[in-house]
Amino acid sequence: MKNYIKIKNKITSFNKKIEVSGDKSISIRCVLLASQAVGKSKIYNLLESEDVINALKSVEKFGIKYKKIKNYHEINGLGINGFDNSKNVKLNAGNSGTLARLILGLLVKSEKTVKIIGDKSLSKRDFSRVTEPLKKFGTNIKSKKNSLPVEILGTDFLRPINYFETRGSAQCKSAIMLAALNTPGTTIIKAKKSRNHTELLLKYLKLPIKIKSNKDFDFIEVTGLKQFNAFNYVVPGDISSSAFFIVLTALSKNSKIRIKNININKSRTGIITILKKMNCKISLKNKKIYKGEETSDIVVESSKNIKGFSCPSYLNSAAIDEFLVIFLIAARAKGVSSFKNLGELNKKESPRLDIAISFLENIGVKVERKRDNIKIFGNPNLELNKNIHIKNYFKDHRVFMMSCIAAFSFIEGGEVIIEDKDSINTSFPSFLKTLKKLGAKIS
Ligand code: S3P
Repeated sequence: MKNYIKIKNKITSFNKKIEVSGDKSISIRCVLLASQAVGKSKIYNLLESEDVINALKSVEKFGIKYKKIKNYHEINGLGINGFDNSKNVKLNAGNSGTLARLILGLLVKSEKTVKIIGDKSLSKRDFSRVTEPLKKFGTNIKSKKNSLPVEILGTDFLRPINYFETRGSAQCKSAIMLAALNTPGTTIIKAKKSRNHTELLLKYLKLPIKIKSNKDFDFIEVTGLKQFNAFNYVVPGDISSSAFFIVLTALSKNSKIRIKNININKSRTGIITILKKMNCKISLKNKKIYKGEETSDIVVESSKNIKGFSCPSYLNSAAIDEFLVIFLIAARAKGVSSFKNLGELNKKESPRLDIAISFLENIGVKVERKRDNIKIFGNPNLELNKNIHIKNYFKDHRVFMMSCIAAFSFIEGGEVIIEDKDSINTSFPSFLKTLKKLGAKIS
């Protein structure tokens, strides 16, 4: 079956309310924490994408039963240290770094060997960022050149650790916190700022967690072996999926969108801060607090006078998954935009910094790069009037979706072919359907 799409025309003006699917980070955390709770948790609006389905299938291998009932997933947790580890098991995390890294934290006590594998993209990614701290708990981990496959064999002699997480990786920090839940004593983490959904969930579940923060770091203490009851949770919409529609609307003429009930945790809203500085018209309506997480509708209008911006690197972590589309705004801005210290972008599902630079150059945008810093020379009249073919990007879901948004925003005469349409199943299976609602013509 054909696995590419062709785009020939812009989307003409639209004024719509849309919903995007549930947040991927929160969905995976809900599955993993529900597996550790005692009893049946109900998770509403769980993202039904490959990454999350792989999370459900992974916990199922340890005796956790789950089923979808009406509009929620019921997950029957067996408590802390409750996984059935009586057999050697192989888990396939597919494309998901979050799943592969976080679940290792739940396996520090495994009585049998668990082998984790993943797809081609995940098999290229660094696992030392989680295997190094987890080894300090006393568990046994082997990996091939710091990447997948990783094999973990737990121990009965776990000890809490004191760890300094320097990259600003939420996956690393969360793997340590999940390991801490399964370990006697108090684990202490000093972590460079990154998304804090795990911390908020642990707090909501009344687990023994203490957090102090300053501008750059969080100081977290988690005490282990406390059982907790099953819980109900409604997963809010994903700002990373919304990002594609935020940017499309800002770049389209006479358009407006309202994206309903999106998680706007400050550790995730870098895109809003950056785009507002660039003169994009974005507002947050109907703000609420839900179980420690902030949510709102995001309203965006066509933005005429977009200007260049020098992005301070303290915003990187809160925008890390959105830079691909932020660069499209910079491409249409008046003036130069600069982004610094983006090395982590090359460690995602594909080397996104390298891929973004060749993509921008391919559509006629001038880019200068010095190591992990880039300057994008914006052109308010940017138009795409040649044929381009997007392929060989490691099936990175966000590269596929960014390429669609670029095509629908800039095309004027050319034709854009984008391969590997199935990549959207990783995080946002209804992406193309939602685009069609706004009038997109896709062949
Ligand atoms: C994620 C954390 C981020 C992000 C990824 C999801 C998470 O990676 O890029 O898509 O759910 O914890 P880091 O571990 O580098 O923060």
